[in-house]
Amino acid sequence: MSPKTKDIILQALRDHPDRYLSGQDLADQLSISRQAVWKAIKDLRQMGHPIESLPKRGYRLDNQPLPLREDKIRQRLIPQIKDLPLWIYPSLDSTNRVLSDLDKERDLPSLSLVLAEEQTQGRGRMGKSFQSPAYTGIYLSFLLKKDQGFSLDLVTIKASLALCLAIEEETDKTPQIKWVNDLYLEGKKIAGILTEGKIEKQGLTQSIVGIGLNFATPREVFQEDLRDKATSLFAQGVCREEIIASCLNHFYDLEKTWTPEEIIQAYSQRNLVLGREVSFLLGDISYQGQAKKITPEGYLLVDVDGQEVCLNSGQVSLLGDWS
Ligand code: BTN
Repeated sequence: MSPKTKDIILQALRDHPDRYLSGQDLADQLSISRQAVWKAIKDLRQMGHPIESLPKRGYRLDNQPLPLREDKIRQRLIPQIKDLPLWIYPSLDSTNRVLSDLDKERDLPSLSLVLAEEQTQGRGRMGKSFQSPAYTGIYLSFLLKKDQGFSLDLVTIKASLALCLAIEEETDKTPQIKWVNDLYLEGKKIAGILTEGKIEKQGLTQSIVGIGLNFATPREVFQEDLRDKATSLFAQGVCREEIIASCLNHFYDLEKTWTPEEIIQAYSQRNLVLGREVSFLLGDISYQGQAKKITPEGYLLVDVDGQEVCLNSGQVSLLGDWS
């Protein structure tokens, strides 16, 4: 068998991580027999490629990640943060909720980190839920306290930029950010961020940043209404620990060494809403306009019939090919 046959089959499996490819279709595409496809799959498995098969459906690369390993995360963290307190739970309701409770009990330092293999009540923005199936995603929360020298400005912007930079560094993918907190790949959402603040007499004193990334969630695992809107990173040869550590390293770097102007510039460059027609709700009224820029405060300026409207929270929908 030519090495090319194996390469082509492997590439086809990589290109379609979210579905099974039938042996007959592969055979037809390559003008080879089903027996030759089967032989190539056997060779690829012997080479260490985790290919699963299902009767009547075909073959798929098994992207199921290994359980999260604390040492693999710590090894990759920069010295300034490598000793941060860290918990990994097999299952919990929400990492944001658990971190908040742990902090109440123990008064934790900034960047304390809670990770979970699964969330049973993952929280999204605006009261929505965030589907968090076991072992296929990254669900993490970390803490920031103002009196420990952490800025609570632009937190969601820094977190989405840090996640983008981590993915760019560790994989060959280049996600885009949809203002304010969603990461998109090829028109579908792969990650969301929920920042929850604690307000005391003196104002906002601390924030919990929750990041959820669909790492290798097969399409059929998403709720039906999400299947055309959400996808996963599906990065070959990268483990979740690498993305987690890189994201925290980048967040720390953004926080400590970047100016707010540099952050907004890098964030804007990766933003998919700028220059596009968007719609949004103010109260009960829906408006449409062109997204113009992200302000130094992280707000979105939209031109609505010649008038500038400044949005500071909420959600915009893109007109055209994304919704
Ligand atoms: C969104 O897309 O609206 C935000 C989703 C945020 C999900 C993450 S997963 C880790 C953390 N814990 C939660 O309950 N939510 C955030």
